[in-house]
Amino acid sequence: PVVEHPRLTVVGTGYLGATHAVCMAILGYEVLGLDVDEKKVRQLNSGVVPFFEPGLPEKLQEALGSGRLRFTTDYDDAAAFGDVHFICVGTPQTSGSAAADMTYVDSAFSELARRITSRSLLVGKSTVPTGTAARLTETVRSLSPAGAALEVAWNPEFLREGFAVKDTLHPDRLVFGVESDWAQAQLEAAFAPIIAEGTPVVVSDLATSELVKVAANSFLATKISFINAMAEVCEATGADVSLLAQALSLDSRIGGRFLNPGLGFGGGCLPKDIRAFTHRADELGVGQATAFLREVDGINDRRRTRAVDVLRELVGGDLRGARIACLGAAFKPNSDDVRDAPALHVAQLLHDEGARVAVYDPEAMPNARRKYPELSYADSAEEAVERADAVALLTEWQEFRDADPAALGALVTHRRLLDARHALDADTYRAAGWEVRALGRPK
Ligand code: UGA
Repeated sequence: PVVEHPRLTVVGTGYLGATHAVCMAILGYEVLGLDVDEKKVRQLNSGVVPFFEPGLPEKLQEALGSGRLRFTTDYDDAAAFGDVHFICVGTPQTSGSAAADMTYVDSAFSELARRITSRSLLVGKSTVPTGTAARLTETVRSLSPAGAALEVAWNPEFLREGFAVKDTLHPDRLVFGVESDWAQAQLEAAFAPIIAEGTPVVVSDLATSELVKVAANSFLATKISFINAMAEVCEATGADVSLLAQALSLDSRIGGRFLNPGLGFGGGCLPKDIRAFTHRADELGVGQATAFLREVDGINDRRRTRAVDVLRELVGGDLRGARIACLGAAFKPNSDDVRDAPALHVAQLLHDEGARVAVYDPEAMPNARRKYPELSYADSAEEAVERADAVALLTEWQEFRDADPAALGALVTHRRLLDARHALDADTYRAAGWEVRALGRPK
């Protein structure tokens, strides 16, 4: 029988799991979040979100106040609590390989399965190699006292950091990878309020649902690298990639989203997902079909070295001893996430070449300091640009967009700017005496 108002467990409380747990409680479900990290669980239970995500702390407090949400480290508790169990743990890139590290997913499914004694649905939300759900079905059924009464479904998540709450409560679509009508009906019950809003639902087999996620991220990465490849061509021809992108975007078949040229993509998802996908396609014997994604990755990487090239030119050909203000560290604005952050990669390359970098980011400083202890940091944008020989805008935070070119100019030694994110008005800066360079735009 389908449980009409199921109790939900959410395993893993990172960006995805914490947001999912909070939003489902807001929507009226009883939710138990589980994480093996005691500190995270303590923080969440006391209303503190352990990472920066706009709007989530308020929603967490609201959900805790409703009495419908709590967090635990105890798998016994989670297994007994839920009718539907969502698994939201990470699948990072394995070190030294392109493959996804499946340790956390495998462990979450197994720990739950061992303890579940009656008919339940285990729903994976993590981004995984195709074939994972089928493999896990066998594993959990062999481990669980519930045996074949345990079913695995896949429900990929498309939320963006910085918009996690909105993307979860009002997604563009829901994808349910299922093996039975029961699993489909149980998922429909678990997402009833979102479906009632008119959100389209695509119901598929398990493999398709796993693929949708990596295909979507591959498409987005390809779109970004496409425009960045055009930026390379623009630089060789004197053309302007901003105008090019604008003209392309007015073709409604192409559209303007994810067509912003600049320093390219980073973060915990796009880079590792395209690598894991090519790795999996190779394993499946269809490597040719995804070979272009290696090029997508390569174009993306070249933007970072190109940014360093332009800065070297700006300071007169030699970065050694040059003071470079690096504005931004997070992989994108409105996030404190520094996983595969293009900004920090550029700062590191500058540092390796002997430049004296001063990195500042409005939210990501603690994470940046932890991950790149060898770099130098400033406590404010003003402090970062003080006596700089060149300023590099690497993550387009609003604070940097709003900066006054004249005021910044008064602090630096040389008014030289690389706008690596096409976020600033070059004319205003030039009028204030700055030499301005942007990737893919004429000098
Ligand atoms: C991405 C996807 O957009 C989500 O749909 C997906 O759920 C998520 O990965 C995931 O797999 O979990 P996210 O990593 O939060 O979300 O970040 P995006 O907003 O997609 O930005 C990715 C990177 O691309 C950033 O570094 C951003 O600066 C860059 N970007 C984005 C560009 O360089 N140009 C653009 O036009 C857009």
